[in-house]
Amino acid sequence: MSITTVATNSQALAGKALTVLGAGKMGGILLRALLEGRLLDPAKTRATVGFAEEVASASRAFPAISITTHNAEAVRGADIVLVSVKPHQITAVLEEVRPVLHPGQLFISIAAGVPTSLIEKALGSDTPVVRAMPNTPAAVRQGITALTKGKFARDEHIAIAEALFQSVGRTAVVDEKNMDAITGLSGSGPAYIYIVIEALAEAGVKVGLPRDLATLLAAQTTLGSAQMVLETGSHPALLKDAVTTPAGCTVDGVMELEEGKLRVTLIKAVVKATQRAHELVFTR
Ligand SMILES: NC(=O)c1ccc[n+]([C@@H]2O[C@H](COP(=O)([O-])OP(=O)(O)OC[C@H]3O[C@@H](n4cnc5c(N)ncnc54)[C@H](OP(=O)(O)O)[C@@H]3O)[C@@H](O)[C@H]2O)c1
Repeated sequence: MSITTVATNSQALAGKALTVLGAGKMGGILLRALLEGRLLDPAKTRATVGFAEEVASASRAFPAISITTHNAEAVRGADIVLVSVKPHQITAVLEEVRPVLHPGQLFISIAAGVPTSLIEKALGSDTPVVRAMPNTPAAVRQGITALTKGKFARDEHIAIAEALFQSVGRTAVVDEKNMDAITGLSGSGPAYIYIVIEALAEAGVKVGLPRDLATLLAAQTTLGSAQMVLETGSHPALLKDAVTTPAGCTVDGVMELEEGKLRVTLIKAVVKATQRAHELVFTR
């Protein structure tokens, strides 16, 4: 596994034409970062949405690029195709674009639970495929995206995917067998952390703090603690021990967390979400 924290490959995108199939929440976040970071030429960047009624609002959000509902038309001539429709929509969309594929095009899919083998089969050629699992903190350039290669993808294709996703945070290159677990941990993870922050803020209100101050304290404490883990490289348990003085306040709080089974509850949340990621493509 390799983890990269800074954009090292932005050259990999130079001159490339990108098409985003499904410029929704996640596709839109990526598109915005790539355009704002001037990593792509707007004249060579296109996107699609599912419904004609959505074209106008997507065009308002991305006025510099062409947006349509015609997937095949949008894929024609693209060097990179970013597939960001919902998992259950992916087969139909890929069948639509299959007749216009040309050699050398790279497909990058962010669809949760959809294996590269399914995408390769739907495209019906030796098209290189990279599967990615980003998360929504990408919107503030603090995402983490796991990347894995399909059967026909080479290192240069991973380099392009790294350049693309490093515009919204860190990347990690992983084995495909880990992708559902990554979906359950970092793909879904922001939701778990928002619940923790919300609960801490609620607790602040309970002990007499104004809500906006309580939310700020909870969010910055979460951010700072995460930064400590990343920057010191220390085990989280050691960092926790450093806050927990003998007979102090924190140990009483920690005891409550243990009694409330916070640890095992978070573990079970990730396990369930991982199982669901595995089922997604087959059940919808
Ligand atoms: N959101 C996350 O946290 C997250 C994290 C990691 C990965 N993902 C993956 O990202 C993908 C998109 O999720 P999302 O949350 O961004 O969903 P979303 O906001 O619903 O975006 C889906 C987009 O696909 C478009 N679309 C639907 N049918 C289409 C078609 N036939 N042709 C072209 N475009 C079509 C939709 O357009 P209309 O609005 O016109 O229908 C919409 O713009 C999913 O596969 C998901 O697993 C999401």
